[in-house]
Order: sequence, then C-alpha cells, then structure tokens
Amino acid sequence: MDIPWWRDAVVYEIYVRSFADASGDGVGDLAGVRERLPYLVELGVDAIWLTPFYPSPMADGGYDVADYRGVDPLFGTLDDFESLVADAHRLGLKVLVDVVPNHSSSEHPWFQAALRGEHRDRYIFRAEPNNWQSTFSGPAWTKLPDGQYYLHLFAPGQPDFNWRNPEIHREFLDILRFWLDRGVDGFRIDVAMGLYKAWGLPDIQDQSFKSVSPIWGQPEVHEVYRSWRKLLDGYPGERMAVGEVWTDSSEDLALYVRPDELQQSFNFAWLQAPWSPTAFKKVIDDTLAAVPFATWVLSNHDVVRHRTRYDTADPGTGLMRAKAAVLTMLALPGSAYLYQGEELGLPEVKDLPPEARQDPVFIQSKGELVGRDGCRVPLPWSADGRSYGFSPDGVAPWLPQPAAFAALSAAAQAADPGSTLSFYRRALACRRELVGSLPYTLEWLDSPEGSLFFTRGSLICALNCGTEPVRLPSHGGVLLPSGPLDGDLLPPDTAVWLRASS
Ligand code: GLC
Repeated sequence: MDIPWWRDAVVYEIYVRSFADASGDGVGDLAGVRERLPYLVELGVDAIWLTPFYPSPMADGGYDVADYRGVDPLFGTLDDFESLVADAHRLGLKVLVDVVPNHSSSEHPWFQAALRGEHRDRYIFRAEPNNWQSTFSGPAWTKLPDGQYYLHLFAPGQPDFNWRNPEIHREFLDILRFWLDRGVDGFRIDVAMGLYKAWGLPDIQDQSFKSVSPIWGQPEVHEVYRSWRKLLDGYPGERMAVGEVWTDSSEDLALYVRPDELQQSFNFAWLQAPWSPTAFKKVIDDTLAAVPFATWVLSNHDVVRHRTRYDTADPGTGLMRAKAAVLTMLALPGSAYLYQGEELGLPEVKDLPPEARQDPVFIQSKGELVGRDGCRVPLPWSADGRSYGFSPDGVAPWLPQPAAFAALSAAAQAADPGSTLSFYRRALACRRELVGSLPYTLEWLDSPEGSLFFTRGSLICALNCGTEPVRLPSHGGVLLPSGPLDGDLLPPDTAVWLRASS
C-alpha cells in the first residue's frame, strides 16, 4: 500500500487571529500567514491547519460562522485565501481548514430566518428547555421573545443545527465541495462527536464533554462521516479529514476512523495524560491498539499550553518536560499536531487583565472560569516593537503580550543553537529523514523505574519522567537529546533519540 501523505505528517495548527497580522489592525490574518510560510518550511512541518477565518461576529473567535463560503474582512479576502493555498502548495505544504458543522453563528442567514419563524427545523427549538448546560457554562437554552427556546451547546451566539433535517447534510456537503474546489487538502472537523442529539432530548446527569451521552457521540453521526468520506475520495490527491473527538474511550474514538469514515481523529488522551511513564505507556498502547492511524497532540487553542501544564515548583521543569514530551511524541507511529508557539516554548499567559479577555468561557462564567485566552496570545516574532513583530510597528495586538515574549521571540531564537526553536527544527529534520524507513509499530524495551524506552526499527527513544538519572539502553549513537545528557546517563525530565545498535 502506498503510504498516504497524512499518515506520518507533522501538522502545524495556526490560530489565525494570533499568528501574524499583516493588515495592521492588531488581529492576525491570512496575508500574515502567507508572509510567514517560509518560517514554517524552515521549521520543517508538512501541513498547516487554519482555524476558522470565515465571516463571523466573533462570539467564539470565529467558531461561530455566519457564512461558510467566505472570508471575514478581519482576516482578508477569498483572493488572499487562494494566494495562501497556492503559495503553501508551491512550498510543499498541505493546507487543512476548519469546518464547524455542530452550530452556526446566530448571525447566519438561516438562524436569522429561524428567528423570524421560518424553517425553524434547521435548528433545535423547543417550548420547554431540558437540563443541558452550555459547555461554556450556564444553560444551553436561550429563550426568544415568542417564548420558544433554542439549543446552543456553546455560546448563545452558536445555535446548534438540527442534523435530523436532510437539508443540513446537503448544505455541508456543498460547503466541503466549495473548499475542496479551492484546493484544500483536508478538514479539521469541529466538535465532531456532536451534531446529533438523542431523540427526545432527555435530561442528563453527566454533562462531561468527554463521555458518550445523549449530547455527544450519538451513533447517527457516523453516517455523516461516511458521506463526507465518499466526497473526499472522489477528489484527487488524498484529501482527508481529522475529527475533533473528545471521548474518554479509545473504542469510541475508533468508531470515527473506520475504513469508510474519517482518516484521522485527534487523540486527546495523550494531552490529558499526567507526567508519568505508566500513564504515557497506557495511552500509547491503547491508541495503537484502537486506531489504524494514530495522531498525537500536546497543545491546541483550547487547552493550557503544555509547557505550563508540566510546570512544577521547580523553575525550568515545564520547558524541559515539554521538550522531552514532544521528542517522544515525534518518535511515535502516526501523525503529530503542533500548536503555534510551542516551538518557541511559549508558556500560558496567566495574568491577562480581565478587561482584555475575550473568550466566551470567561465571559459566560462571569470570570469564574479563566478560559482559553492565555494560550491564544499573539506570537512574538521579534524581540522588540510594540507587539514583538506580530503587527506592523506601533499597533497594539488584540491580547497583550508579556515582556517575557521578547526573549522567546522567533528572531531571538532563530540564531541560537541552544534555543527551543532550534531544537524543534533539528527534531523535525531528523524525523523527516528517518520516518520513511521506520515501521509503523513500536516495541517496548526494558525501562528502569520512572522511564519509558521503546524502539522502532533503527530508532530508539528513551524518556525519563523520574527524579533520578537512568542508564541509557545500549545503542549505536546519539541522534538527538531534548536536553544535556550526562555521559551514559539520561537525566530526569529528558528524552533522547538514539540509533539502534546494528
Ligand atoms: C471546538 C473548538 C473551540 C470552540 C468549540 C465550539 O472545541 O476547538 O475553540 O470553542 O469547538 O465551536
């Protein structure tokens, strides 16, 4: 079998609002992405995933789509998008775009019509609400002046579609065609386990985003992905889709990637695992047993950056662990998703002033939940200037950046061989060289307490999560460590790639 491009791809998530601002309004845009493509080529990724750039009132940073076939003026024009795809392809990068099928914006013409009492069966209206809560906090129902309630599993500005209406199916197939015809290589499917709600909308006890329930993971959703897969397969060039599936069961995850459904699904179990070799080993074993093509991810625009998640009382631990975790992840069979800024070792920005915060999670919970703005702070490109090179000089970025971003900027790190950026570049270059020759399996090696050793053909990866140095397994040479080695010893919070001895 020919190996499809996405099987081992390293995909870089671009949260467009926060990547690079070319227009000078303090918000990232498509022209900004286009200007920075050479940076991504040098970093060594294979593909980019663009978060929503469609016309939107921005109730949820663009995950509230008012027009699925356009570009919001904040982000540019359809011409900018087409130029971006053309440039990316010329540079050898694939392009994935986000599709948001669970809900639209309340400004979408269909919801506007529903508000006027027309075609309400495109959304979910009821005379009485049930007990469901919004994922962002507060009730999942909003009452209209005429007494009816509509369902929104997220913000009130994100009404849920009624997927039991065939018109929604036809509309989304057409939206996918629109972007496929413009050359996109695939889709990231937002809230892919949503879409269908159980008949009768029963009250529930456990609202968790992660469990199969009357809200999430209804069996009918798989029919949708079967029809999407047929559409993708009808296009040349291995077009693909990756689902955002939050679930606490690897068996449930596996349903989304059956041979006639999605090619990939995010595997959040890796991101949720604590810093422990047994936890990591279990996730790896479960994942490889459950899905034909694994994916791995440590950070994205919805979670606390992993450098900060791994931070303990000891200063520096977070970054060391973050580098060790990513090196381990890049050694695993399957594809890896990186989140913009992790290659700079950016931490979560915890001290954003309340008045600057824009995440509906913060707003809806009245500040009780801090929300996701801290991982969405605009990237620092240079060590100076008002926005550290994110916007043209003099322009303030949409979220304030901390002073620590100066030293973490791409420019400050590019020339420093000891920087996190240089480490990522070396790791991705080394992976690219090796990956084609590695088997799509791994074998565990005897691992001293606190550590995890495995091998894939010519590669050995060793990770030390413990508190004491451990002796390296026998090997044929060091390829790449995540931090300094101590002779034959692997220090705590460090990983290394070794050549297997021949
Ligand atoms: C997904 C997105 C998140 C968004 C939510 C609602 O989880 O990743 O950012 O808020 O869906 O669209």
